[in-house]
Amino acid sequence: MAVRKITEYPEKVLAEVGKPVTEFDEELEKLCADMFETMYDAEGVGLAAQQIGLALRLFVMDCEGIKLVAANPEIIAIEGEQSNPEGCLSVGKVPAVVVRAEKATLRAQNEKGEWFEREADGYAARAFQHETDHCNGKLFIDHLPKMRREMVVKRFQKEKNWK
Ligand code: NI
Repeated sequence: MAVRKITEYPEKVLAEVGKPVTEFDEELEKLCADMFETMYDAEGVGLAAQQIGLALRLFVMDCEGIKLVAANPEIIAIEGEQSNPEGCLSVGKVPAVVVRAEKATLRAQNEKGEWFEREADGYAARAFQHETDHCNGKLFIDHLPKMRREMVVKRFQKEKNWK
């Protein structure tokens, strides 16, 4: 297992729509193990393949007791609305309030290729939506009005230069 380098905005791969995962083999298991390790190392609750430079429809997450690998993820049902601060490891965890569905049902395949459905609400539902977005080449800042988006990007760049 290894901690991989996390890609950061505006790296191109973050805007790429992921290719479907088709091989559920040892290589995929190793990749997922690396993704979990990278996510824990960065103290995140979710990480998509795009965030380690791979345009794949794949994410891992461990949020509010929901720990899973999601290959070829889809949000198949949503309900309600929540407005909460959200951040992303690829945008320096700079927070911004994003409107999301309060409840979401995820449909995806695990690392063995078995399909599953999982329902969540609150923070975990937000993670489902955020990570599935990554697999579609979309970042949380893409949900923000232009001015707020620019503010997040500016703050991220400023903090990056301080490091
Ligand atoms: Ni993210």
